[in-house]
Amino acid sequence: MRVKIVDLTLRDGHQSLLATRMRTRDILPILETFDSAGIYCFEVWGGATFDSCHRFLNENPWERLREIRKRVKNTLISMLLRGQNLVGYKHYPDDIVEKFVTKTAEIGLDVFRIFDALNDVRNLVTAIKTAKKFDTHVQGAICYTISPVHTIERYVDIANQLAELEVDSICVKDMAGLLSPKVAYELVKALKREVGLPIDVHSHYTSGMASMALLKSVEAGAEMIDTCMSPLSMGTSHPPTESLVYALNEMGYDTGVSLDVLMEVRDYFMKIREKYSGYLNPLSTIPDTNVLVYQIPGGMFSNLIAQLKEQNALDKLPDVLKEVPKVREDLGYVPLVTPTSQIVGVQAVLNVLTGERYKVVPKETKDLVKGMYGKTPAPIREEIVRLILGDERPIDCRPADLLEPEFEKRKSELEELGIEASDENVLIYALFPQTGLKFLQGEIQEEPFPSSVASVEGRFEVEVDGSKYRVEVRPM
Ligand code: CO
Repeated sequence: MRVKIVDLTLRDGHQSLLATRMRTRDILPILETFDSAGIYCFEVWGGATFDSCHRFLNENPWERLREIRKRVKNTLISMLLRGQNLVGYKHYPDDIVEKFVTKTAEIGLDVFRIFDALNDVRNLVTAIKTAKKFDTHVQGAICYTISPVHTIERYVDIANQLAELEVDSICVKDMAGLLSPKVAYELVKALKREVGLPIDVHSHYTSGMASMALLKSVEAGAEMIDTCMSPLSMGTSHPPTESLVYALNEMGYDTGVSLDVLMEVRDYFMKIREKYSGYLNPLSTIPDTNVLVYQIPGGMFSNLIAQLKEQNALDKLPDVLKEVPKVREDLGYVPLVTPTSQIVGVQAVLNVLTGERYKVVPKETKDLVKGMYGKTPAPIREEIVRLILGDERPIDCRPADLLEPEFEKRKSELEELGIEASDENVLIYALFPQTGLKFLQGEIQEEPFPSSVASVEGRFEVEVDGSKYRVEVRPM
């Protein structure tokens, strides 16, 4: 049986371990060799790369895609698209989504992986429909999390909604590394049986289970697995490409990948890892098993601790750790992934520090309850809605239905500023009005490489219900 290897080194790999800082000039030299290895698909664009390129590296993200496209001839190239959020952090109007997807497809991207943090399929419709107009492979991704409402039946239901939109495959996207081998097997089996589309499994190594989850997924019939070249694997990243290829080949699966070529590629990325070591937090390189106990991703701990430190209230950490799951339940069991992890974290801290639950409610929490991010996995209880919104009522339409078209407006703004208003430039500006404009005006400089190894931020011992836990502070 064929198992297709999707290598994420050039997007999720450096996003997970090197703060998304790999420069295009360090990506291009290895592409020709890498392209001859027999990998099915390289994930090279999207996620945080668009933001990081223009904001920190003074690089035009469109140029990066074009240069990569030129050099990759045998392997498909893919991107991660955050549904209506595209590669940003808020919902954009439909005309921006359509333009963005069109431009990307025209440059020659092969595979669009599209997800929504809340798994609200309405937030994927515009992007999926636009990408389907081109000769591309459209992959609908389901965010995996654990909660009483996140059952296998529910994931099957979401996958069926995606199948109705005629996606070409389904991705199980396990952002926090919560997918255990047993559940991976059951989930993939159920998806194969009930939905029938090809399945790709994406599982971060965060809790140390990802290699096991991938192997069980393949045994259950998954056609594609996500990996990263060993120098940028493990920790908050993904299982090593070489190891998975070896194990699968030995078990009689055909990956079509040459380990000899991968050895050459590995040498290259070892040098990259060294060069970028200043970005690497040592703690993101080892598994964080806390997540198995608390269900709180490691990155979220750092934020909680930073907030409490700022308020001089680190002693309240145990209370906050108890409050997080309660807030998550109140807010409809949202997955703890950007941006909902921040919303739940900040609210839990506020609930504890003010001594009264929902006495202070930031705009983001209100927006979530109002439905501005989409439908929460479970409905929010009426008393919580009242407590947070008062007399205001939640919306029940798709959030982007409330947004006016924006492309032409942004375009004339650029023209007025005397900046070339090409579609690509307008999109950079529309997606990131502040930093995008600075970039277009030539005011961004490439940041220098950090001189020293990123420091271990710290370890704390906390007591929750009489048990002591050691908490490690990690980068988000
Ligand atoms: Co990922």
